[in-house]
Amino acid sequence: MTLIIDGNHVAAITRKKAAESVRDFGQRTGGQIGLAVVLVGDDPASAVYVNMKEQDCAEVGIRTFDHRLSEAATQADLSKLIDDLNTDNSVHGILVQLPLPQHLDEEAIIAQISPEKDVDGFTPENLGRTLRGLDALRACTPLGVMRLLEHYDIDVEGKHAVVVGRSTIVGKPQSLLLLENNATVTICHSRTQDLPAICRQADILVAAAGIPKLLDADYIKPGATVIDVGINRSDDGLVGDVDFEAASHVASAITPVPGGVGPMTRAMLVENTVTAAQKQCSQA
Ligand code: GUN
Repeated sequence: MTLIIDGNHVAAITRKKAAESVRDFGQRTGGQIGLAVVLVGDDPASAVYVNMKEQDCAEVGIRTFDHRLSEAATQADLSKLIDDLNTDNSVHGILVQLPLPQHLDEEAIIAQISPEKDVDGFTPENLGRTLRGLDALRACTPLGVMRLLEHYDIDVEGKHAVVVGRSTIVGKPQSLLLLENNATVTICHSRTQDLPAICRQADILVAAAGIPKLLDADYIKPGATVIDVGINRSDDGLVGDVDFEAASHVASAITPVPGGVGPMTRAMLVENTVTAAQKQCSQA
């Protein structure tokens, strides 16, 4: 029987623990944990993600400060907002939903976020610290994937993990976290030759390419664990980077889309926000 990895279940456990930490924070400090959520433009998918993140925060008792800027916002407008949030003591975490509209310099904005408040783990400081194996706020999706593997006792040590995708928000940090847990890691991307042959070597296959149903049964070694990070909108609704139906006959464990990695990304954002608040208040 193939194990269907239940991201909703593990995310609910994570939120429950976070809610206890939030209560504890309130009792110790008399304050409330705050997350600033910044959305620029009117991409409907981004609006859906942001709303779900705000709902998760509300559930655990984290206060959110909603900042929605129009598509016409300038670099100076956004930069000023980040500056204000960096110095606002009621804000412990800052989330800038990506992608930003084309005319804005995403790298400059991310680099401007105070590393202590960078609950997405996207700043050069936090990515660099992750690379060096130092304490850092780490990227939510890769962290969520590691939490799923841990929850289901899927050991990565000594295993061959193949990550398909080299994005800064998923593929690269995911590879680092797998490596840190002693997996042997291969990173594949759009220029990789004979992708199916490399994927078939994977004990743990992480699909983060952003291409609907890219990986079918031919890409999967019998008994492999398949983690699908893809969220693609199609005529059939949301589909992952993996052909779930075909892959589930070959894999020993697999994440569905939706209900796999997505809820874990949001749960780790909540957890990172709690961690950021705790650190800021212990330094105060
Ligand atoms: N866009 C797609 N995924 C993410 C994410 O995890 N965080 C942010 N801020 N934007 C995203």
